[in-house]
Amino acid sequence: MPKSLKIMVTGAKGMLGSDLCDVLGSEFDVYGFDIDDFSITDEQATMEWTLKVAPHVIFHLAAYTDVDGSEDHREEAFEVNAVGTQNICRAARNANARLIYISTDYVFDGTKGKPYIEADEPSPINYYGLTKLYGELYVTDLTLHHLIVRTSWLFGPNGKNFVDTIIGKAEAGERLRVVNDQYGCPTYTLHLAQALRELMKQDLEGIIHLTNKGATTWYDLATYALELAGISADITPVDSKAYPTRAKRPVYSVLSSSRLEASGIGELPPWQEGVRDHLKRRNKLKEE
Ligand SMILES: NC(=O)c1ccc[n+]([C@@H]2O[C@H](COP(=O)([O-])OP(=O)(O)OC[C@H]3O[C@@H](n4cnc5c(N)ncnc54)[C@H](OP(=O)(O)O)[C@@H]3O)[C@@H](O)[C@H]2O)c1
Repeated sequence: MPKSLKIMVTGAKGMLGSDLCDVLGSEFDVYGFDIDDFSITDEQATMEWTLKVAPHVIFHLAAYTDVDGSEDHREEAFEVNAVGTQNICRAARNANARLIYISTDYVFDGTKGKPYIEADEPSPINYYGLTKLYGELYVTDLTLHHLIVRTSWLFGPNGKNFVDTIIGKAEAGERLRVVNDQYGCPTYTLHLAQALRELMKQDLEGIIHLTNKGATTWYDLATYALELAGISADITPVDSKAYPTRAKRPVYSVLSSSRLEASGIGELPPWQEGVRDHLKRRNKLKEE
């Protein structure tokens, strides 16, 4: 692929966006945008910036990502995740750019009891998931060339995430109660960014699931991270009933891909490798 391939990234300063821009930047011309450049809710600005860049590919990551906040700020979440994505789709179409949209495991209700594949029917149980599903529908309806990438439970050094929150609370000596009855696939932003770069090189269309390998609970993720960091904490596994949140979470949102092998990029490393590398980058890995 030529270095002259122009790639636009929305949400470029976010947790995934920062790693993605770094990974793509070593090979391609990358134009990263975030809220301080323009808001994707501004249809005109979105169109103007996109046509000015004239990208071949757009990675659309910008989103209202506060899952609990989405319940209280429904209009804002809808405006960014649904209307903003609609604006990006129209701009992508006008610029004749291929669109790669990052979506979520939270489009599923979690009742399937086994891993979700791309063909499964979404049925979100929280408002964030619903707005991201609207985004998926706009992408499907409004763009000619697109790929929807569903991922889950992200952590990385450039944003607020569960792993860092747990480490921070444990370091502060807080007593931890962590949910042990929700299952998902923790995914490290650097591994995901590298896989997204490889996916971009394929001409895959439609939907693909992309996470680190393996599934676990929040509690097991927390204890694994604490162990690697060498922090002994007062940590108790609890049911989600004992830890009510504004937004309902699916009890089982493990994503499986029937398409990864066909894409040629193969599986991502196990999530444990992601946690290890993340802690290393954050200087939190216990000396071994
Ligand atoms: N985090 C997860 O566990 C997870 C799981 C599955 C899928 N995803 C999806 O993956 C993508 C990246 O997630 P992330 O965790 O890296 O998100 P993030 O760190 O919250 O980054 C999103 C970025 O978008 C920006 N943004 C918000 N509203 C905007 C607007 N109106 N116009 C332009 N930019 C705007 C945010 O700015 P501010 O920070 O100033 O708001 C932020 O820099 C999202 O599409 C998300 O839905 C995330």
